[in-house]
Amino acid sequence: MEKIAVVDFGGQYTHLIARRIRQLGVYSEVLPSHAKPEEFKAFMGVIFSGGPSSVYAEGSPTCDAGIFELGLPVLGICYGHQLMNHLLGGVVKRGLVHEFGPAALHPQNHPLFKDVSPDSIVWMSHGDEVSTFASGFRTIGSTDDCVNAAVADDARKFYGLQFHPEVTHSAEGDRILRNFLSLCGCAFDWNMDYYVQTLQAQIRKQCEGKKVFLLVSGGVDSTVAFELLNRALGPDRVLGLHIDNGLMRKGESAAVLDFMHAQGFDNLKIKDATDTFLANLRGVLEPEAKRKIIGETFLTVKDAAIAELNLNPAEWMLAQGTIYPDTIESGGTAHAAVIKTHHNRVQGILDLMAQGMVVEPLAELYKDEVRELGRRLEIPDPLLDRHPFPGPGLGVRLLCSDGKGDPAAEKDSAAIKEILAARGLSGEILPIKSVGVQGDARTYAHPGLVRGTRDWKLADETATLVLNRVRAVNRIMLETHAVEGAYAPVARECERNALDLLREADALCTAALQKADLYSAVWQMPVVLLPLLKGGKPVFVLRPVSSSEAMTARFAELPFAVLDTLWKDLQALPNGGAGALLYDVTHKPPGTIEWE
Ligand code: XMP
Repeated sequence: MEKIAVVDFGGQYTHLIARRIRQLGVYSEVLPSHAKPEEFKAFMGVIFSGGPSSVYAEGSPTCDAGIFELGLPVLGICYGHQLMNHLLGGVVKRGLVHEFGPAALHPQNHPLFKDVSPDSIVWMSHGDEVSTFASGFRTIGSTDDCVNAAVADDARKFYGLQFHPEVTHSAEGDRILRNFLSLCGCAFDWNMDYYVQTLQAQIRKQCEGKKVFLLVSGGVDSTVAFELLNRALGPDRVLGLHIDNGLMRKGESAAVLDFMHAQGFDNLKIKDATDTFLANLRGVLEPEAKRKIIGETFLTVKDAAIAELNLNPAEWMLAQGTIYPDTIESGGTAHAAVIKTHHNRVQGILDLMAQGMVVEPLAELYKDEVRELGRRLEIPDPLLDRHPFPGPGLGVRLLCSDGKGDPAAEKDSAAIKEILAARGLSGEILPIKSVGVQGDARTYAHPGLVRGTRDWKLADETATLVLNRVRAVNRIMLETHAVEGAYAPVARECERNALDLLREADALCTAALQKADLYSAVWQMPVVLLPLLKGGKPVFVLRPVSSSEAMTARFAELPFAVLDTLWKDLQALPNGGAGALLYDVTHKPPGTIEWE
């Protein structure tokens, strides 16, 4: 079988590259950066992934330069492009401008850019760049801020791209990857159907002589995993447990159970563990700490359920619907930075994994591939098309704080005000912190607020400008609606009243989207409760995004008429309605989809 090697330098998108290549009809595998040149001999070409390091940083990942002697075409992406250049004798330096998000590529006439349009939008996420390229290379494409955005050594078939062709927001990225595969001489004849068979065979092998216990949240991943396990092992060897952790959306647990029963799943139990989760979360403010507690509590509740059901733990493996981004973002591959700990990557799970007691049939897949698999397994569309919802649920979307506030430095406040004023806008930096992802690593910075426009294009351009220039800011929100008064920090923790408030607001927002017939037009729409009050009332963030695999995302533009109606609806919330509706206009990167 002809195949392509993707070398993992710890980039957030490494597996995405491999997956894109498979989508294009060529089998591909991810290899660690320490793989020896001999290991590449069975491949038609090599792709170097991105990564969170700088090539000059101590301990930054590298590879055996013997790979360049194999006569195979090599494509370096972002860090991979810088590393290839560095190893072959070129120079990489800190770029003058840090570029995150969209940029227009001006490609030259080159086979790598066959059928690629003149101002093709590509996705950048980097600080360093190649300043002097290694001998044999020449520039074949530039952006306004990066002269050597694409380079080639045609004699050796070595190519380097500073941008990420593998993310869907690089508009013609697939075409560029396909062109590389053509340069490798690939025939494009690999078929995805084959994957379903392979997965079932793998499950049977891994679970030989054992039964499996799966936590079923009711989301797409766990439902598809449940169906797949039932098919591979038979219902007698599979037991599902739905745990209501008190962090679910309104009416969710009941709906999940009804739906599963309607689908004919009888091997599913439900347990209300709200009190246990909330007791464990009492007084915990830090998002990573909350995530870990939620993950560990899932395990203790699961163990209690296994004991109650009198099941022998040695006989039962734990199955999880973990998908690929859950692993990569928890720092689960070599060199990858910890973006956040997903609920299914806490220590207790890692211990079980070390004992070979965890089965994760979807671990190689992205959400859209899981949906595709679900369709092949005949799971109905309404279930598959539900928006993703994180395992720790509203526990992450309810931002906690001691109420002391976290104001930005004077110079940063002045910098954002200056940028906004130059565009006829006003705004400020909010006195709280939010999480983001920049240059493959996690960031904690302040959200910035913009007011004074209803023009999405202006909001988008302004956000990109501020985010690239003001390091202290990692998100931008448009204040679409607000009552009078200043933003004031407030103490908040994960307790029932705050969760109920967020649950109600979330239900109103989802209803607004459904009423406008826009539910399936957006990928996901987290609703966030900030630890701020305006005019003494709660402040909500709406975060609608479009994406196809959640590794990158664009903020989605909803009609203002929908938001105006929603603002009125939010005034019906208990205790006096809402103080502000803030609309997140940040792409990913530099923001994440979730807030926490
Ligand atoms: P971010 O916020 O990193 O999210 O852009 C990417 C996707 O992952 C989902 N997400 C999670 N899913 N457990 C999950 O099952 C988690 O702990 C978790 N955290 C984030 C998020 O909703 C988005 O779809």
